[in-house]
Amino acid sequence: MNYTIKDISATEAYTVRHPVLRNGKPIDSCIFDGDNLSSTFHLGVFIDNKLVGVCSFFKCNHQLLTEEFQYQLRGMAVLNTYQNKGLGNVILNYGETLLKEKNMNVIWCNAREKALNFYKKMGYKIIGEPFNIKDIGLHYVMWKKL
Ligand SMILES: CC(C)(COP(=O)(O)OP(=O)(O)OC[C@H]1O[C@@H](n2cnc3c(N)ncnc32)[C@H](O)[C@@H]1OP(=O)(O)O)[C@@H](O)C(=O)NCCC(=O)NCCS
Repeated sequence: MNYTIKDISATEAYTVRHPVLRNGKPIDSCIFDGDNLSSTFHLGVFIDNKLVGVCSFFKCNHQLLTEEFQYQLRGMAVLNTYQNKGLGNVILNYGETLLKEKNMNVIWCNAREKALNFYKKMGYKIIGEPFNIKDIGLHYVMWKKL
């Protein structure tokens, strides 16, 4: 599949976050604290100039992880009809490479139960106990050394 990965704005990321992660909820529910910080970056994967997948990276340490230089992955989403084609894999890989270039040690995320296999295949491990996020469901903290 012919794809392009580019830096995008938070506002562009909402166009995919909204239908995939906050379907039926107000658009404001897509806005995350820190979306517009200078340390945050957003990536988009495009097919034929259409934005079909997004993920965002926030400078944030998790209390269960001891490494000094950590980033949190948030808002990982691929439009329904483009899922299971390897696009999630390529966009996350690209982001991990950028983090390595910034000398980061660890990436972590709060993973939905449905996405566990995706992250496991990407080399992420579970740490701690699962927890519930209201209206969204069970989540696991998953992390990977970069
Ligand atoms: C989770 C998500 C981001 C993964 O993105 P994706 O593009 O579907 O992921 P990939 O295609 O890279 O990998 C997903 C699966 O497709 C398979 N796959 C990878 N490349 C493939 C290819 N070229 N052709 C067919 N299948 C492929 C993978 O093996 C994987 O299989 P699995 O279901 O056994 O894990 C996406 O499915 C999504 O947006 N889901 C809904 C929102 C969500 O849950 N987000 C995560 C929040 S924590």
